[in-house]
Amino acid sequence: MRYDEAKLAEYFSQAPEDVSLADIDMARIPGHVSIIMDGNGRWAQARGLDRSRGHVAGVDSLREAVTTSVRLGLDVLSVYAFSTENWKRPQEEVNMLMHLFATTLLHELPLFHQENVRLRFFGDLEALPEETRKVFQQGLDETAANTGMTFALAVNYGSRAELARAARVLAQRVQDGELDASAIDENALASELYTAGLPDPDLLIRTSGELRLSNYLLWQLAYTEFYVTPTLWPDFSRWEFLRAIKSFQGRKRRFGGVVNS
Ligand code: IPE
Ligand code: IPE
Ligand code: MG
Repeated sequence: MRYDEAKLAEYFSQAPEDVSLADIDMARIPGHVSIIMDGNGRWAQARGLDRSRGHVAGVDSLREAVTTSVRLGLDVLSVYAFSTENWKRPQEEVNMLMHLFATTLLHELPLFHQENVRLRFFGDLEALPEETRKVFQQGLDETAANTGMTFALAVNYGSRAELARAARVLAQRVQDGELDASAIDENALASELYTAGLPDPDLLIRTSGELRLSNYLLWQLAYTEFYVTPTLWPDFSRWEFLRAIKSFQGRKRRFGGVVNS
């Protein structure tokens, strides 16, 4: 995707010592970056605050990550905001998060317009509270005509549920006589996932140091490069994002083949 050189330079001025825009090859920016935003609770607890304060602080990091992605010219930024397993958390925290999703999205709609960002969701939105569902639909409707970066929020998302759902949809089509079972290949399955039509992530970032996927994009991450940072999500800045991209650009992606060095 195209990016604005002047805005980019301005945005990444005042670099810290270890990383700057000069370290980045703008011709090899990953098209799709995905982030598992983790560590809000630990960030709050370390400050003697309630976990919810960590989620609120995390919103600022997310806003910055969206802007960073636009400045760098990404095609897609996707983020894991709430998993199918996160319903196990205390009811109070779940309610707080659902309300935070709704209020934040409403508040950020002008930013999405200003930056020409189109919204998208991964996950089963039917199970969300009405307030959240309504605002999400409003966000989808109001940004549908935007033509810049796609910003995808995974909410009530679980990769296993996503794959089971895709299998169910395809099976139903076979049962209805619309589809031949022998026509079910990788493309057919991918086209029934929440990510249909989007490229697979090139780079996955996970904050807070956890070395696991927590049921995120199991299919789509088959050949994605991983970057795990101990930084907790509320501390994740444009510079940490740049470090992740610098690391990505130092990798050799082989996709199972042989790469001459
Ligand atoms: C990530 O932070 C946000 C969500 C899962 C909604 P956590 O809430 O998981 O924070 P930790 O991992 O407990 O520190
Ligand atoms: C993954 O984080 C889900 C999101 C970031 C939304 P969790 O905090 O839920 O993951 P686990 O429980 O540590 O694996
Ligand atoms: Mg966590």
